Amino acid sequence: MHLLRSTGQKDGILGKSILMDYKIHRFDEVDSTNSLLKKGNYPVGSVAVAKIQTKGRGRGGRSFSSPAGGLYMSCVLGFDSVDQALFVPITAAVAVRNVLSQYVECKIKWPNDIVTDGKKLCGILAESYLDKIILGIGVNVNIEPEYFKSNGLSYATSLYLQSGKNHSVEEIMTNILNNLNSKTDKVEILKEYKQHCITLGKKIRVIQGTREYDAEAVDLTENGELMVNRDGKLIVINSGIVSVRGSEYI
Ligand code: BTN
Repeated sequence: MHLLRSTGQKDGILGKSILMDYKIHRFDEVDSTNSLLKKGNYPVGSVAVAKIQTKGRGRGGRSFSSPAGGLYMSCVLGFDSVDQALFVPITAAVAVRNVLSQYVECKIKWPNDIVTDGKKLCGILAESYLDKIILGIGVNVNIEPEYFKSNGLSYATSLYLQSGKNHSVEEIMTNILNNLNSKTDKVEILKEYKQHCITLGKKIRVIQGTREYDAEAVDLTENGELMVNRDGKLIVINSGIVSVRGSEYI
């Protein structure tokens, strides 16, 4: 079972390139689709999707608001090496941006938020669990602006808010799964990521626990870590422990 290959292989991120091979489990309401797949020890290829999450989880221990109208999905992935595992969030960001850009113009904020108009449209959380990775994707699809206002989520937006139209959550999920499955070439993925990454070339604020500093985002390493210039010194930062903020986006 392969997650993704560095060159030319046909296996996709979910291990097989045919959607028929996934098993999709649908739920009306769960605490978190990531937690559900972990607790149930679901096998590689399982996909969980829920209409509502009551305890949606984000990166860095934050919560992810998950009202009705959004897409909340998680997939169980296998992997062959640590490098492959670390590359999952980068791959997912490229695949999800491809799909969402069919609806609105959007960019990737390093490491794996999808933003449009300076606001967050989608969050991605990849967690390792036993010998697997649980890849969770939350997209604000048909969420009304009032929801963001009344919940103090001024940094968030939805496809509905951006386009003035409702969109099919099911269609977006299927397109994301297909797109994830088509991503196999690491060099191509990185190239595409850089093309659409809003963080590169920007002045950013690096936040690591209680430590914060200003830097400029200059490039990505071949594993998708961010290279920043801090007062003339190049530093490589890893998404596991650091978050970044820019002046033009959240
Ligand atoms: C982030 O923005 O920090 C990541 C958010 C990830 C949210 C998705 S929704 C589906 C899956 N289940 C969760 O509890 N989290 C992820």
